[in-house]
Amino acid sequence: MTCTVKAGLAIALVLVMGALGAVAFVGSGVYNIGADDHHTKIVLALIEQLRDRSIATRARDIEVPPLEDTSKIVAGARHYASLCASCHLAPGMTKSDIRPGLYPHPPSLAQEGVLDERTAFWIVKHGIKMSAMPAWGKSLDDAAIWDIVAFLRQLPIMSPDTYQELTKPPAAPQNTRGLIWSPPSTPTPAVRIDAPRSATPVVPVTGLPGLISLRTSQGLRAARFS
Ligand code: HEC
Repeated sequence: MTCTVKAGLAIALVLVMGALGAVAFVGSGVYNIGADDHHTKIVLALIEQLRDRSIATRARDIEVPPLEDTSKIVAGARHYASLCASCHLAPGMTKSDIRPGLYPHPPSLAQEGVLDERTAFWIVKHGIKMSAMPAWGKSLDDAAIWDIVAFLRQLPIMSPDTYQELTKPPAAPQNTRGLIWSPPSTPTPAVRIDAPRSATPVVPVTGLPGLISLRTSQGLRAARFS
């Protein structure tokens, strides 16, 4: 037997032993999958590599549309307040009931920002398996997801006041003449209504747009698993 064949056999043996060990480890049930316990270093390293490489490979060819439009940022802010803030917090919001029990921990996007627009779009659309991050593409179209990304770029430098302004519910129609306001479908032809034409009021936005803050470091952060 030549040296090369011997080395080949030794490597094959090590691989088989490793595979058998992995099967025995999984089968034993010794690993704690509970969300109130941390991953071991080796499992953590594997998951992070898998996640980062998978996302980078899928996100790199996404075309980013213009995201500076204030109306997109406002629309994104409203989605964020209702769908995301409970996990990812917001300016002026420092805790939520669901956050302490989530593992991996959802990053505080208001403080840390997002890596880049492509990655953010991909993650929001497709979610991340075995984490609590949902695939919002199941309920939102791409345009709505880009609105959210337009908002995410602004988030880390946004003041609590601006966030409140952007996300406050549309104002109820005002009746300035002492008349009782009725919805347009109700036949009240004699009453003139000074109600806004659209249900969405024009929101005066301060400090927007142009103030963009994206993370510059490479790779998704690891701290959320610690
Ligand atoms: C139920 C909790 C939950 C909700 C709701 C949620 N997320 Fe997440 N999100 C997570 C978790 C947990 C992670 C971390 C996943 C991981 O790294 O494995 C995450 C990761 C992310 C990331 C990647 C952050 C980074 O750069 O590392 C982005 C971006 C993101 N979420 C955006 C959103 C947006 C936008 C919404 C709302 C449309 C949302 N998430 C709703 C739990 C949530």
